[in-house]
Amino acid sequence: MTSEKLRLTVAEVIQETGDAHSLVFETPAGLSYKPGQFLTLRLPHDDGVVARCYSLSSAPGVDEQLKVTIKRVRDGRGSNWVCDTVLAGQEIEVLAPSGTFTPRSLDTDLLLLAGGSGVTPVMSIIKSCLASGTGKMLLVYANRDEQSVIFHAELRALVAAHPERLVVLHWLETVQGLPSLKPLQEIVRPWAHAEAFICGPAPFMDCAADALKELGVARDRIHVERFTSLAGDPWTEVESTGPIEGEATTGLVVELDGATHELAWPKSMKLLDFLLDQGLDAPYSCREGACSACGVHITEGEVAMDNNSVLEQEDLDEGWRLACQSRATTDAVRVTYDA
Ligand code: FES
Repeated sequence: MTSEKLRLTVAEVIQETGDAHSLVFETPAGLSYKPGQFLTLRLPHDDGVVARCYSLSSAPGVDEQLKVTIKRVRDGRGSNWVCDTVLAGQEIEVLAPSGTFTPRSLDTDLLLLAGGSGVTPVMSIIKSCLASGTGKMLLVYANRDEQSVIFHAELRALVAAHPERLVVLHWLETVQGLPSLKPLQEIVRPWAHAEAFICGPAPFMDCAADALKELGVARDRIHVERFTSLAGDPWTEVESTGPIEGEATTGLVVELDGATHELAWPKSMKLLDFLLDQGLDAPYSCREGACSACGVHITEGEVAMDNNSVLEQEDLDEGWRLACQSRATTDAVRVTYDA
C-alpha cells in the first residue's frame, strides 16, 4: 500500500452494461498492486472536487493496464459524473492502489459473494487466483436482472476455461427475489471452509455476512469491503499540528514493511500524521476514517479514534484501528502494519 499521487490518462472507456462503465488507464511500468485493491480518483466535478474510491477490476500479472469499473448510483455525484463525462484521452489524478480486501493466499479456496458492482474487486481476485494460484472458487453473484450482470461474458469464458476451479452461481432478483439468509446459507454451506470475500450493497453484505457467521465461519475469514463517500479532498495538504511544546509523549513501537521503529509519539498527534512527519511511508487514502487504507493492528496499549465509518465491532475486537484517526490514550503503544 502506498499513498503515491499519480496522473493517469484514460486509454479506453468500456460500457459494461446500461449503467456501468470501466475506465482503462495507461499504466506506468512497475506500478504494483494486489488483487481486490482500489484506486482513489480525484474528479473535477462542476460543483467542486469529488474524491471517490473505486475498486480495480483488473488483475496484477494478468492485465497490463489498470481498470476500474463504476456503476451509476441514484444521486451519486462521483459515479454519475464519471459515466457522463469521462472520455478516452482524459487525464485523471489518482492515488496509487490501496486497500486490504485481498486474499492472503491464492492457493486456498475462496468463497466470493458479490452484489451488483461489488463484483469489481472480486473479478480482480478471480483472475489473479486462476492465473497465479491453485485455490478453487465459488462466486455467488446477485443482480437485479440479467441485463445488470457486469462481466457476464468474461465470467462465462473463465468458467469454460477453468471448470474444475471456478463455479459461478447467478442470483437474479427478477427470478429468485432479494437474496435472503436461509437460501444463501444452503448455497454456501459446502464452502464454509473457504476464505470469504463479500462486496456489494449494504443489505446484501449484511445478509451474506450473517449467513456465514451462522454457519460458524470465523470472523477473521470473512472479508467485507465497504466504501463510504469521501467528504474531503485527500489531495489537499493536511495540516499537521505537530507536537505541542512540552506535551507528554507515548512510547510507540511500529512495525512497517518489515522494519521496527521506536518513537516518542506526542499525545495530541494522530498516528498517521506523526508517522508521515517522521518520514515513514505509512499507507493512507482518504484520511477521514472512511476507507480503511490506513488500517493498523494494535498489539499493546490503546488509542482513541476521532472518526470510524468502516471498522465494525469485530474488527475493533481483533485489534484493528484507523491510523489516520488514532491518538494514543496509554503511555505505551505497539502497532503493526505487517499483520
Ligand atoms: S486513510 Fe482512509 S480510513 Fe484512514
